[in-house]
Amino acid sequence: MCGIVGAVAQRNITPVLIEGLKRLEYRGYDSCGVALHVDGHLARSRSTSRVADLETQIQETGLQGFTGIAHTRWATHGAPATKNAHPHFSPSSEDARIALVHNGIIENHDELRAELTGLGYVFQSQTDTEVIAHLIDHMYTGDLFDTVQQAVKRLHGAYAIAVFCREEPHRVVAARQGSPLIVGLGKGENFVASDAMALAGTTDQIIYLEEGDVVDLQLARYWIVDVEGRPAEREVKTVHAHTGAAELGPYRHYMQKEIFEQPRVVGDTLEGVTGIMPELFGDQAFRVFKEIDRVLILACGTSYYAGLTAKYWIESVAKLPVNVEIASEYRYRDSVPHPSTLVVTISQSGETADTLAALKHARSLGMTNTLTICNVSTSAMVRECKLAYITRAGVEVGVASTKAFTTQLAALFLLTLTLAQVNGRLTDEQEAHYLKQMRHLPVALSSVLALEPQVIAWAEEFARKENALFLGRGIHYPIALEGALKLKEISYIHAEAYPAGELKHGPLALVTEEMPVVTIAPNDALLEKLKSNMQEVRARGGQLYVFADVDTHITSGEGLHVIRLPEHYGLLSPILHVAALQLLAYHTALARGTDVDKPRNLAKSVTVE
Ligand code: G6P
Repeated sequence: MCGIVGAVAQRNITPVLIEGLKRLEYRGYDSCGVALHVDGHLARSRSTSRVADLETQIQETGLQGFTGIAHTRWATHGAPATKNAHPHFSPSSEDARIALVHNGIIENHDELRAELTGLGYVFQSQTDTEVIAHLIDHMYTGDLFDTVQQAVKRLHGAYAIAVFCREEPHRVVAARQGSPLIVGLGKGENFVASDAMALAGTTDQIIYLEEGDVVDLQLARYWIVDVEGRPAEREVKTVHAHTGAAELGPYRHYMQKEIFEQPRVVGDTLEGVTGIMPELFGDQAFRVFKEIDRVLILACGTSYYAGLTAKYWIESVAKLPVNVEIASEYRYRDSVPHPSTLVVTISQSGETADTLAALKHARSLGMTNTLTICNVSTSAMVRECKLAYITRAGVEVGVASTKAFTTQLAALFLLTLTLAQVNGRLTDEQEAHYLKQMRHLPVALSSVLALEPQVIAWAEEFARKENALFLGRGIHYPIALEGALKLKEISYIHAEAYPAGELKHGPLALVTEEMPVVTIAPNDALLEKLKSNMQEVRARGGQLYVFADVDTHITSGEGLHVIRLPEHYGLLSPILHVAALQLLAYHTALARGTDVDKPRNLAKSVTVE
């Protein structure tokens, strides 16, 4: 989603800004732009194409400057168009005094727009952002830091902004409320960005701004004030952010590469786990796990499906009741809080606005025992939670999550065992059995990925369909949901998932010869029930595509296509089955020729509500 980079330096800063935007590209965007202070005036370049094209555009025009800001935009207010791309200028393009970039949503933009229009400002975009640029220009006192502090008091909603002014060439001012923003410190130069990763290779000295902070960046100094305008000390951390997306290697897309990285990163996530120890989740974990008697999981998207899977695990092994909620719903609904709840957020990015808001909402209801399963150790989610388990998926570039999901599942299984142990529900034999299974996961996953050629053959068929049904039962129902989500995200085929027992309560009406029905058939207690559900599909002419465990005795026949997974993996089976579904979605999208790594309209890191 939207990304910000800004710099004040004594060298041409364009390469740093472009490099920063490239590092933020994976989050998803539809337009981008750079503004610079050039010889006493403001200049900008914007594009609805890729950052690489913006770079060429900038090279062709020879745009250079010592002070500047840059942005990748994911449209919320106004279509993806050059006029809506950031940076925005005020009072006008021709006579620009203020340049500004913004992440977030300004909720009172209509009211401010009316006020500023009344004052003579002419709006050139449909964005909520442009009102902030005009507001700052209107309120400008000759001191940008002071002006921004006053101006943000008029804003309702979420924002991270970076702004500079024609009259103050060696200064960038930035502010945050509800959207992440960091400061990067250099020698005689300073930076601002929405994510430390944007500055990887430029500086590792990072300050995480807090809610309501406003920062004044100059060449050799910086100054932060808090929400009340009081001087604020913020810790400087040395952050070894990933140096960007890895090379593609032999793969055609990042998504394919990331699917095949799963054996390694699941192994990395569980590395060093030689026994079940609460301390793996943080120093206070044992006390917290002793205090709680129920679990509330909050997440969005794929992470929500990881949470749904964990519900089956925790209830069955640790015997604790689990409630899993979509974060964007939970934050606004009346729920019944219980102080002895362990609140678990799951997030690959650690910056999802809805999940962060849901976490804060849970805390405001008195539930202070919080834990996150997160892939970014420096993220807001990790900083906000009492306990954390950091998955080690590495940077995930493909917008459709794959390796982040399976590493979340690995961490959640570990959490399940830990809660069971603390509750006296895990025998030494069980612990040894599960640990052995977890250690074997990388090998088991590799044998599933070796099925790729068979999946490719199916994908050719799927590519011609416009609808698909996914069926699973029990612990594999969330995996059916995730399989359907993967297919729709990247191939744009309409896909729905049902617990197989629900077929006859509605979706069976959709089943014809044109409807592929993907079925997850592990060799578990529900297998016979599932076989009956499959009969119901066959009897209506539906085409079954079954991922069956090796010993299920389901064999291919007319209208029944079977791919055998090498082994049945008990409780951990969802981690294997989902890898097969990821491959199906990937190869179907490939056959349809869609933009696999950057599907239309989607973003990797959803930092707005
Ligand atoms: C976006 C991404 C999904 C992700 C979801 C939640 O929609 O495209 O892949 O599952 O956000 O993100 P989080 O970072 O909180 O896991």
